[in-house]
Amino acid sequence: MSETQATTPADDSKAGERSHDPTYPPKFLEFMRTGWGASDLSDLMVLPQAVRHEKRRRALSQAFPGETLVIPTGREKVRANDTFYRFRAGSDYAWLTGDYDPEGVLVISPGTGDHDAVLFRRPRKSTDSDEFFRSAQYGELWVGRKHSLDETSTRLGIECRDIEDLDSVLSQLISDKTRVLRGYDASVDASVPAERVTDATEPSRDRELAAVLSELRLVKDDWEVAQLQEAIDITVRGFEDVARMLPTDRAISERVIEGVFGHRSRLEGNGIGYDSIVGAGSHATTLHWITNDGRTTPGELILMDMGTENNHLYTADVTRTIPVTGRFTPLQRQVYDIVLASQQAGMDAVKPGVEYKHIHETCMRVLAEGLSDLGVLPVGVDEAMAEDSLVYRRWTLHGFGHMLGIDVHDCAAARKEHYWKGTLAEGHVLTVEPGLYFQEHDELVPEELRGIGIRIEDDVLVTAEGRQNLSDGLPRAADDVEEWLARQREAGPRIAGLD
Ligand code: GLY
Ligand code: MN
Ligand code: MN
Repeated sequence: MSETQATTPADDSKAGERSHDPTYPPKFLEFMRTGWGASDLSDLMVLPQAVRHEKRRRALSQAFPGETLVIPTGREKVRANDTFYRFRAGSDYAWLTGDYDPEGVLVISPGTGDHDAVLFRRPRKSTDSDEFFRSAQYGELWVGRKHSLDETSTRLGIECRDIEDLDSVLSQLISDKTRVLRGYDASVDASVPAERVTDATEPSRDRELAAVLSELRLVKDDWEVAQLQEAIDITVRGFEDVARMLPTDRAISERVIEGVFGHRSRLEGNGIGYDSIVGAGSHATTLHWITNDGRTTPGELILMDMGTENNHLYTADVTRTIPVTGRFTPLQRQVYDIVLASQQAGMDAVKPGVEYKHIHETCMRVLAEGLSDLGVLPVGVDEAMAEDSLVYRRWTLHGFGHMLGIDVHDCAAARKEHYWKGTLAEGHVLTVEPGLYFQEHDELVPEELRGIGIRIEDDVLVTAEGRQNLSDGLPRAADDVEEWLARQREAGPRIAGLD
């Protein structure tokens, strides 16, 4: 249905102004405003995780004593003309509130106790408003029942106010006592003048807010770990769905794989956490291959980097590289085993107190040694890895991994000393995902290696004792992958949701 079949503006006074807007007779308008019963709200209750959000808001407020913090979630973005992308809440905002709707703005202020928090939101329009049936963007007859401010307040355990009041609140804030999470909501950004930074090397106050949020998000609580585990378990089932239908003896489109995995993700979670990367053959050497318009070839590999985002927006991030026929060739296995050894060495090194970059160096050394064994490195391993050389990187391309959570590349605004130059701590969740990539047109590698790309990626929780591989529901060793593929094929295709 297109908006041309009804009017869209939320502002009733604008309804009927465009040439294609119907002009409703007053009798019809009156008729539509009446006769609607009350909603069943028997499920309405405070979310069990609301106490965790409150704790997070308090921790954030304590990091900036005496200051007001403004954290918007963002707005729906136009995809084309009058259609929008499906809204996905701002990660920091969602982490602090549990609210996944668009247009909300969280304001945390010093307050009377340890802090005050108010969530400014678009209020629900009652059924006697025209918006209710006329607005394709907001009307409940178009987009479904929304919670009122009071209902949201009950669910999230936070005071809610009409977004209309926000401007007057923002206009009274003192700029050197206010920080804004910028880049999410242009009207909020415009309402609070950005600090003028005289020295470009000084982090701005607003960037410090983003950094502290990322740093607070580094350690996951047990509820967050459970969310990640759920997202990963759905992802495992999605990989199984793919393995169960993948033909060994004929080509299929990469998009079939993308579709099968996307189906599982949308059925059991919110959707995919990032566009699925499905690289058949040499497409595997393109790191973010999301065009997915190639086809599988028996005898070649497929690299699949896919992750489900669960309904609380936590995402998995898993990669498996598998042989189409079900069996690795000796050369494919040789390269695969180098990547596996690198990943295993990295995983074995994960424990509290270890420097993040130590994991990187551990993974990269194994890859560089493997490249040397393959006869690819033009110099010795130590020289290839020297800071002033790094030539091995031509075939490893990316780092060993990243933090994982409510963002696939989680905590990205954290300062170096807390992340890249920091140490691992219990509750961190990170990916370990080394890879080797030999481009098809790379004349510096033997011809038989060209077009091979292999990455193995798992999601690892740092525990008090060391680590737990949250994605060990999928095999990693070459023999185990072959055995798993045979078992999945034996079980045969299934359509998630129908079984
Ligand atoms: N899926 C993107 C990544 O592995 O970082
Ligand atoms: Mn990753
Ligand atoms: Mn990935």
